[in-house]
Amino acid sequence: MSEPPVVYLTREIPQDGLDLLEKHCEVYVWPDPIEPPHDHLVERLAELEADALYCNVADTVDEAVLDASPNLRAIGTISVGYDHIDLRAARERGITVGHTPGVLAETTADLGWALLMAGARRIVEAHGQVRDGEWETWGPTVLLGRDVHEATLGVVGLGRIGTEFARRAAGFDMDVLYSHTSPNGEAEADLAEYGIGAEYCELGELLDRADFVSLHVPLLEDTYHLIGESELRRMDEHAVLVNTARGEVVETDALVRALEEDWIRHAALDVTDPEPIEPDHPLMQHAPEKLTVTPHIGSASTETRSEMAVMTAENVLAGLRGETPPYSAFEDAGLR
Ligand code: DGY
Repeated sequence: MSEPPVVYLTREIPQDGLDLLEKHCEVYVWPDPIEPPHDHLVERLAELEADALYCNVADTVDEAVLDASPNLRAIGTISVGYDHIDLRAARERGITVGHTPGVLAETTADLGWALLMAGARRIVEAHGQVRDGEWETWGPTVLLGRDVHEATLGVVGLGRIGTEFARRAAGFDMDVLYSHTSPNGEAEADLAEYGIGAEYCELGELLDRADFVSLHVPLLEDTYHLIGESELRRMDEHAVLVNTARGEVVETDALVRALEEDWIRHAALDVTDPEPIEPDHPLMQHAPEKLTVTPHIGSASTETRSEMAVMTAENVLAGLRGETPPYSAFEDAGLR
């Protein structure tokens, strides 16, 4: 290991995280807002003989990256998700991987609700009409959306973010359904304290019954394309699908058809497959009446990103000291 240890950051980060790293390490930061190309990342880690990598969801951390520097012993991703990192390969090489669970759950749930409301009440479309000078009068049948209050909410995945998302239904008198790998008694008890009686059911039943379906599962082999044609066809024609999880959880081609053929009313997405999605992609040809898309900003609040930056720095520093990071991705993924 170099002294002080060398840390390579694939992006600029909030100052608090940078300050912490700079106290203990020699820090190199890729200066562009777009991530370094994969080849460049490998070359740069090799050239610096980096001891640690500070990355994010847009970086692919595969074996080539893990083998780039002979000194690499700690990785921190400024994200809760770690599907962009080959965890098993890192584990085999004795490289620690830290992530940021919990801290972003409420912020991501907030954005999920912003998307849900935008889809329910046609906010983006309405704004476009005002901006384009189309607001001529008040109309009894103009821009009618769907009620959120007293509707049925389906939460797919009742983990940290899913629970926060469900908790926010309390003010809307909603019936809350959830699907999960198995009933989550702890989350149900938390929600009960807020007056929410969350009912566990199979995904299929949830899709049949919910007016709003919101996805909160991690991207795993089992959740890849969890929502495809048959699932979309089961949903109500007035339903809104919200995705703040991972784009690959939804089969994009099936979603394009679902919107084209009105199997559902609206998709409100913070994540897409591919990501970023180009404006000429078939999905993006749908009008705001059917589609709202934000560019993967679930955790993007000043407060939360600052906390995430510090947590990631702490994870990296622990790994460099030869300790298990306080928020180890191996533990979260059940890799012991
Ligand atoms: C995460 O943390 O995994 C998010 O998707 C990025 O904010």
